[in-house]
Amino acid sequence: MKNLVLCVINVLFFIHTAYSTVQIQAIDKSIHFSPKENIKLVCNVTFSQDDPTPEVRWMRGGTAVTAVDDLKERAKVRWDPHNRISVLMVERAKDEDAGNYSCVAFDKENELSRDSIIAAKPLVVRTPKNLNFVEEEKLRVTCKPNREAKIHWVFHGKEYHESRDRVILEDNEEDGKIIPNGTFVLEKAERDDRGELLCVGTDPVTGDTANYTCMVRVKDKYAPLWPFLGICAEVIVLCAIIIIYEKKHKTADLEESDTDQSPDQKNTPDQAKGTKVRHRQ
Ligand SMILES: *[C@@H]1O[C@H](CO)[C@@H](O)[C@H](O)[C@H]1NC(C)=O
Ligand SMILES: *[C@@H]1O[C@H](CO)[C@@H](O)[C@H](O)[C@H]1NC(C)=O
Ligand SMILES: *[C@@H]1O[C@H](CO)[C@@H](O)[C@H](O)[C@H]1NC(C)=O
Ligand SMILES: *[C@@H]1O[C@H](CO)[C@@H](O)[C@H](O)[C@H]1NC(C)=O
Repeated sequence: MKNLVLCVINVLFFIHTAYSTVQIQAIDKSIHFSPKENIKLVCNVTFSQDDPTPEVRWMRGGTAVTAVDDLKERAKVRWDPHNRISVLMVERAKDEDAGNYSCVAFDKENELSRDSIIAAKPLVVRTPKNLNFVEEEKLRVTCKPNREAKIHWVFHGKEYHESRDRVILEDNEEDGKIIPNGTFVLEKAERDDRGELLCVGTDPVTGDTANYTCMVRVKDKYAPLWPFLGICAEVIVLCAIIIIYEKKHKTADLEESDTDQSPDQKNTPDQAKGTKVRHRQ
């Protein structure tokens, strides 16, 4: 009886120590995917040549991928015995497939080793491409990331992670989500503020960055006046020409004797002059 117990303990001990050297490792701990393409997640399993192959299960956020309704049809797990890698392929990726995936090596129900892979869409930030402001008015530029990201700004070569000097960073709200420091504000734009304004986004988990440049132009506050002043100048010049002509004409009329003139002749200076000259002779 004592021997039997020892034997059972030995067997149990053997089972439990059989996989003591199992190590599972994600080849890439952070991957990017584009919607509609396949997501490929790979984990490398190291185990002793004498041991049986451990079972590898895949999870997302703590749930087996085979238990997620939206995922199970598109999730294909493959074991490559030659390279000793387990591959999870998620076909026709959707935005919601982003998350924290884990590959876990099991011996029956005993977890032996695990590693995790973050799958995310590439980070993209966007501002308008060009914006025009008027001098002394408020300059305001909003930046939108396609997913959660920390925003900072680069303006005239200086980085702004928070409000300072003339720069005020405000939060913006998009579909009920707050984007901290997503709005860049200058209370009074100056003409020298013209230039490139960069919005830089950083993924707090993966550390990925993305940026986008907004070309900011600041117009002279009198700029809208220029066309009006131009028209005024034109009118003044025209008036001057008319007045000068009228004056000359009047002088000519005065110099003229009581000769009658047709309206046609009055309107054409050459003819008027001609008449004048002729009359003088
Ligand atoms: C798998 O892991 C082992 C050790 O952890 C390493 O030597 C080997 O290069 C890895 N294989 C791949 C394909 O990364
Ligand atoms: C992902 O999940 C694992 C547990 O499965 C955890 O250890 C890890 O910290 C998580 N990674 C992130 C970035 O949340
Ligand atoms: C946003 O700016 C404030 C100060 O204006 C700063 O304290 C905070 O850390 C910034 N937030 C982020 C997410 O960078
Ligand atoms: C903006 O992104 C480009 C590549 O997309 C990179 O070369 C550049 O260094 C980035 N600039 C900043 C300020 O992060």
